[in-house]
Formats: sequence, structure tokens, C-alpha cells
Amino acid sequence: MKKLFVKTYGCQMNVYDSARMAEALAPSDYALANSASDADMILLNTCHIREKAAEKLFSDLGRLAPLKARKRRSGGTMIVAVAGCVAQAEGAEILRRAKNVDVVVGPQSYHRLPALVAAAEGGARPVETEFPAESKFDRLPTRSRAGISAFLSIQEGCDRFCSFCVVPYTRGAEFSRPARAVIDEACRLAAQGARELTLLGQNVNAYHGEAPDGGTWGLGRLIRALAEIPEVLRLRYTTSHPADMDDELVAAHRDEPKLMPFLHLPVQSGSDRVLQAMNRRHRADDYRRTIERLRTARSDLALSSDFIVGFPGESDDDFAATLALVREVGFAQAFSFKYSARPGTPAATRDDQVPEPVKAARLAALQTLLTEQQDRFNAGFAGRTIAVLFEKRGRHLGQLAGRSPWLQAVHVAAPDALLGSVAAVRVAAREPNSLTGALSEASA
Ligand code: 5AD
Ligand code: SF4
Repeated sequence: MKKLFVKTYGCQMNVYDSARMAEALAPSDYALANSASDADMILLNTCHIREKAAEKLFSDLGRLAPLKARKRRSGGTMIVAVAGCVAQAEGAEILRRAKNVDVVVGPQSYHRLPALVAAAEGGARPVETEFPAESKFDRLPTRSRAGISAFLSIQEGCDRFCSFCVVPYTRGAEFSRPARAVIDEACRLAAQGARELTLLGQNVNAYHGEAPDGGTWGLGRLIRALAEIPEVLRLRYTTSHPADMDDELVAAHRDEPKLMPFLHLPVQSGSDRVLQAMNRRHRADDYRRTIERLRTARSDLALSSDFIVGFPGESDDDFAATLALVREVGFAQAFSFKYSARPGTPAATRDDQVPEPVKAARLAALQTLLTEQQDRFNAGFAGRTIAVLFEKRGRHLGQLAGRSPWLQAVHVAAPDALLGSVAAVRVAAREPNSLTGALSEASA
């Protein structure tokens, strides 16, 4: 077997894609390895969402050059492949800028990877960044194993064109997999041991897949169908757009106990002026109302979000509106970023870019508030008994690691027999990144 080293940048979609690419390469005799140093192939699955990600790729490529040269001196070869959104956006430019790259493959062409790698082994430097009419998902080999918590891609691409975002350009038009294909894959994952499925898509709640009986299903309907698989104990989905939160999906949060009470729903800004300039197509109050609908449906729902500070034209008042929205809603967790101008997106060419020090100060203020909220959320769990799905062994002997319904990591002394099951845990203390506790009497 040849050794394949994969490095994944960016989002969960890329984590999923990396696993699928590794499987697609298994018939070409590549097996996953933990180290890049003597690998026969290096696959970098890249992210283009913010500037730093692309910079990281080129610095990583620079570091690989001596490894590749050493391998060649010892008579071997090292194929370097660049996949993901930077591959899609930059295409052949990557070959020009990094002489040690052999293959460039965009996110819609992963089923072509074995052929591209074979071409590279023969000395070519292929670039494949087409958007084929069909979905790649159903042309990739099926997965041979699954973790207790598994990702399942159901939707890809985006038609919303938020003015800061590269996704509509790098991942292409919105595409939903047919419900039948999703259900079949979910059943296969469940048979391989998956107990939690996280449904993935760039705009996952825009899902509108072909229904098994011909019509169209939205995400709420799909979730109800997946919840019928007995082995599947938990369902989650990410990432959503507030304007695509329809009544059926809200009702699924009310009616479907397997749908976990934790939702990542990016708002980006609390200012209507900025939201409009971002082309988000919802106002801050629409977001507040959506949260209200969701909390009415499921009172213990915890929220996560994405924020961008320093979008072009963002004033002090606009930023204050973001802080006000955060205070009102209350988040269990959130990601926040300084606006980063992405070539080819409408916001990048605006002449009212916010100076870097202002962005940095706003980011610090927002993160202070979000961290406070996160700490308060987690502190509220001391003494409570919660349901934990055990996913793997913990760091210490005799300990298992799992997740709460709210996606908190939980570490508990528990027997291996509980792997893959949900058990009641009484939370004792909070560590920096997790909760600890003990199995409650009933499950011990
Ligand atoms: N600059 C900063 N953050 C961005 N995001 C997307 N594009 C940009 C950009 N140009 C953030 C958004 C999105 C998350 C995945 O990344 O908050 O929700
Ligand atoms: Fe990007 Fe999400 Fe907006 Fe689509 S909805 S353009 S993926 S930020």
C-alpha cells in the first residue's frame, strides 16, 4: 500500500469530503498515514472563506517542497494534490505559483481523483475544476466504516450570494441530494455503527431534495424520515440560513426528540443596514422572531452563530446593534471573524473598507461578550443530569468521551460497553473545554 497523508482546512464539509476522497483512493492502493514526511501522496483539502486559509496553503506547500525533494532523491515520488475551494478558485494558478503541486481538483470533481492521480503518477499535472451536471456524491464509492457520530452530506453549493462570501463561486449552485439517496446512506452508516448523524450542507436548510414518491422534501420532512431509523439516536444539521428556517423545520424541533436542541444559525450582524449591504435578505428583527419561534418549539434550544465585524461601511452604531442582538438572544457558543475581502465578491471592491485596527477592536469586544455568554451557559450545567452519547475512549484510562445534546464535550469514568449508547450523566465540574461528571445511578 502507498501512504496517503490528508490535511483538511476549514469547514465540516471539507472534513467529510476528505474522508470520501481517501476512500475513493483506496482502490488505487492508497491507505491513510499519520505523517507527511514519507507519504507517497499528500492531499491538501483547502478553504477559501477567509484570506488566512489560502495563505496557510501556500506556506504549507512551501514546507512540503524539501520533503518531496528528499523523497525524489531516495528514488521515490510524492504526489501533491490540492483540493477544495482554493483549488476551485485559483485553478491552474496554483501550478504556476507552487511548482511542487501535481494535481488540482475542485470540490465537484472528487470522483475523478483516481484518474487524476494516475495521470500525475505518469508525469502529468492535471487541473479539474468543472461543475458537472450530476452530484459527485452518488458517484463516489460508498463508505466502508463510520464513527459513532458521522457526517452525512445532503446539500451542496449556495444560491444566496451574500456579498462577502466565496461559496457560491467555489461550490457552485445549490444542489440537494434526492431523499432516497440520503436515507440509504443514513441506513448504511447506522448499520456500520453510527448513532448520531450530522446533516451537512453549505446552506443545509435550503434543502429541497426529490422525495421518494416524486414530490420535493424540505429539511424538516427529511429529518422526520431519518428519525425513523431505529439505530439513529441523534440528528443535527449545519449550516443554516435564517431566511430558510421554514415552519416544517421549526415543527421538527418541536416534534422530533432525536433532533438535538442545539442550532448553528449564523446572523453575521445585528444591523439592518449592514445585513442589507451583505445581501442577507433578512433583518435583525426577522432573526429575533425566528429564534422566538424556535424557542417556542423547543424551550431548551441553545444557539450558536457566526458574526463578521468590520464589513465595509460598518459604523460604530452598526457594531453596537450587533452587540445588542447578542445580548438579547444569548448564545451558547459562536464564531466571529474580521471581514476579509475575497476577490470576486461584490463587497471586496467597496471603497469604504473598515481600517484594520477598528476591526481588531470590534472583534475583541464581541469575543469578550460571546465568551462571557458561553461561560455562563456551561456554568449552568453544574449539578444537572444530562444525556450523553459516548463516542470514544477518553484521555485517561477507564474514561469515555461523549457529547451532550448541546454539543458540549463530556468526560466520564464509564465502561467501554457504553460506547455508542446514550447514558445519563450528572455533571460535577467544568473544565476549560468540557464538562466532567459521573454516570448517574440508573446508567452505572
Ligand atoms: N470575511 C469574514 N468572514 C467570512 N465568512 C464568510 N465569508 C467571510 C469573509 N469574506 C464567515 C461567515 C460565515 C462563516 C462560515 O465564515 O460568518 O458564516
Ligand atoms: Fe455564503 Fe452562507 Fe451566504 Fe451562501 S448563505 S453566500 S454559503 S454566507
